[in-house]
Amino acid sequence: MLSRINSCTLLGLNGQLTKVEIDLYNGIPGITVVGLADMSVKESKDRIRSAIKNSGIEFPDDRITVNLAPASIKKAGSHYDMPIAVGILQAMGAINQIPLDNMAFIGELSLNGNLNPIRGALPLALELRKNNIKEIIVPKGNLMELAMVKDMKVYAFNTLHEVIRFLNGELDYKDERPLIDLDKPRIYDVDFNEVCGQEYVKRAMEIGAAGGHNIMMIGPPGAGKSMMAKRFSTILPRPTYEECLEITKIYSVAGLLSDESPIMMERPFRAPHHTISNVGLVGGGSNLRPGEVSLAHYGVLFLDEFPEFKKSAIDVLRQPIEDEIITISRASGTVTYPASVNLILALNPCKCGYFGVDNGKCSCTPNEVRKYLSKVSGPILDRVDMHIQIYPVEYDELNDYSKNKSSSDMRVNIEKARQIQLKRYKNHNILYNSQLSTKLMDKYCNMEDDAKYLLKNAFDKLGFSARAYTKLVKLGRTIADLDDEEIILSSHVAEAIQYRKLDKNYWNMN
Ligand SMILES: Nc1ncnc2c1ncn2[C@@H]1O[C@H](COP(=O)(O)OP(=O)(O)O)[C@@H](O)[C@H]1O
Ligand SMILES: [Mg+2]
Repeated sequence: MLSRINSCTLLGLNGQLTKVEIDLYNGIPGITVVGLADMSVKESKDRIRSAIKNSGIEFPDDRITVNLAPASIKKAGSHYDMPIAVGILQAMGAINQIPLDNMAFIGELSLNGNLNPIRGALPLALELRKNNIKEIIVPKGNLMELAMVKDMKVYAFNTLHEVIRFLNGELDYKDERPLIDLDKPRIYDVDFNEVCGQEYVKRAMEIGAAGGHNIMMIGPPGAGKSMMAKRFSTILPRPTYEECLEITKIYSVAGLLSDESPIMMERPFRAPHHTISNVGLVGGGSNLRPGEVSLAHYGVLFLDEFPEFKKSAIDVLRQPIEDEIITISRASGTVTYPASVNLILALNPCKCGYFGVDNGKCSCTPNEVRKYLSKVSGPILDRVDMHIQIYPVEYDELNDYSKNKSSSDMRVNIEKARQIQLKRYKNHNILYNSQLSTKLMDKYCNMEDDAKYLLKNAFDKLGFSARAYTKLVKLGRTIADLDDEEIILSSHVAEAIQYRKLDKNYWNMN
């Protein structure tokens, strides 16, 4: 007796429809799995045998061949347990011979027949939906994340026994997926109204958030760098439904969704410690998991105490920050994950932390300062549009919280500026100004004559390079957008220049 069950194989964030074919015939009892299945799939044999027995059904005494098609792609993961078990049950006649062509199965089995949640249920379900599969059976633990899948019936159960009863028409099912409300008020643990003074930094962060510009903050210890970086994601525009879906897919594959937060409704904020491994940062390992740079996709990647990161870690970050995607190749395969992040770097200017701000207090030699900062120079610095010098707040400012702008106040203008950009770039496959190519810059960054003159003067007098030029223009574009001006004015350029001066102070270049 032959049966055919739909399931899916996961390749990074995408999937591929997989047919699980089961054949039962007379022969020496046992299960053979063919079709480029890895160890994790082959291990399922024992789980399936026990789970079926513990569901009250005698396991067949036949020879069983399981074929996973197409055989050309590698299959990994424990989520084939359920489709294989259902296929065997159907082939042996324990499930009514109803056609299962429109239905797919994913889920891991315990020896006692319980269904365990799996990683990647969301991208798997979305791929199946693309393949016109209209119904899916999953473990109960994966139900909530599938609230994001539209036009698909999702049935979730706790045990294999329940699945059998449901397929045999002995169990009713009620869809308990919650409705997703993307418009509900945003709640954060932190807010910019807790930051006193620092108006200059808040303004810079407003610009960074509006135009998607990467930011570097330099300042002495205790000046509030970490505090302000942690609040940056609270002023980013609300993610769209498509963005939430993309972020949730990554967290699903990483196995980071929980019952408390089954759907990512906010932009992520990731702040890995400087001791993180390269694999932890960009992804990989035997099961090709996404790294921090992908977990921060559409959100913030904050690297605090940046010079303390290993040089190799800074090196592996370069490509994903540049390309906004990361491709990981291991013996087990090659996958690509998105990595479009707003990068925020924070650092002390030297080992003791006081160089440049309170030189009298600084105990480092010029050579030590140079050595400390040399970790930061080069390609990563190239990807940072804005440099902000941070000074500690004055004592008087620290006691007055009443004047502090809140994150939601700051967001109003930012959201407006983002809308202008979305409209302007709708045919160009980019979202915000920091992504402008040189060609698009020519088209969309028109400047008034005074602004051009100011820019030229800055080049002559301050010695800016061509490298700094594009950053200045993009920043000017964002500042103009915050002002709702189509033409970049000289005041916009003047402000942009403020965020490009630190190169010279600290690295003697620009
Ligand atoms: N502008 C400020 N307003 C309110 N509190 C501040 C401010 N700056 C610093 N602080 C306080 O000082 C602490 C240390 O700041 P932190 O962000 O850790 O500094 P840094 O990262 O620059 O070393 C913060 O947790 C906060 O309590
Ligand atoms: Mg800090």
